[in-house]
Amino acid sequence: MSPTPFSSPSVALNTGLQMPVLGLGTYKLCDPEDVHRAVDAALSAGYRAFDSAAVYRNEADLGKALRELLPKYGLTRKDVFITSKLGPKDQGEKAMEGALHSLSQLDLEYIDLYLIHWPGTQGLAVADERNPGNRAQSWASLEELHGQGKLRAIGVSNYTPAHMRELMQSCKVPPAVLQVEFHPRLCQPELRSLCKESGVCFQAYSSLGKGELLTDPVVLEVAENCKRTPAQVLLRWAVQQGIPVLPKSSNPDRILQNAEVFDFSLSDTDISRLSALDCGHRFCWDPSGVA
Ligand code: A2P
Repeated sequence: MSPTPFSSPSVALNTGLQMPVLGLGTYKLCDPEDVHRAVDAALSAGYRAFDSAAVYRNEADLGKALRELLPKYGLTRKDVFITSKLGPKDQGEKAMEGALHSLSQLDLEYIDLYLIHWPGTQGLAVADERNPGNRAQSWASLEELHGQGKLRAIGVSNYTPAHMRELMQSCKVPPAVLQVEFHPRLCQPELRSLCKESGVCFQAYSSLGKGELLTDPVVLEVAENCKRTPAQVLLRWAVQQGIPVLPKSSNPDRILQNAEVFDFSLSDTDISRLSALDCGHRFCWDPSGVA
């Protein structure tokens, strides 16, 4: 068993569940060998959370890799936190089936966190007025599976403030997590304060701006000053503000590098300089038009 170079802190979700602040994003991992190699590197580096989704088509490979690798690190199922997401094609009446399919693909008795991946429904126009009803139906299915203990926490991804308000008004179980694109060029102040007011954990994806922020001059300067890499600066900028991150990498060295963000701090000035880059820029999909 390799020693773990860091210990990821956790945040308490509104269900009482502890979620590690650092998780491995698996968006680009779709080959079984790549998944196995990345999960091995991540467990060795101390990651204890893994973020998948039905649309990533790697749930089965992730489940298999964990079953094969957990014993190597002296770990069991309860030591890791698994997230997956309902595909937009299953939004609405197929949500129950979609979530159960995720469980069977992962081959798990429970998923720690299950999110509605996208506020819209595949096959419907973004402005289609059936989108809200489908979201509500999906949420009701997730609530039911949460009640059965199959989804230990439930939440949403890519929701706008309007989608969040709609959900908060109608839900029986409030969302535990909102996972959205978040980095210095997209600071999402409205969503962050909404989450804070409602006790929802705000979680970041694409902290590196799909890799494009790694060459931003301000990021490079801060990295140079604190003798860290640009990726570590971008991840530290989020975790120092209490925001959990999900860096994606298929490269074992970068997976380790991205974990080494708990042994240094950015100055308040550096945090502010990075936050001043906010210009509402998205590297990923924009959900704001979804009815
Ligand atoms: P790779 O898988 O080859 O490491 P984001 O999470 O913002 O979407 O960014 C993911 C992208 O950033 C991937 O293309 C990934 O490529 C790259 N990446 C991840 N970690 C690092 C790192 N520490 N240094 C450079 N590139 C990285």
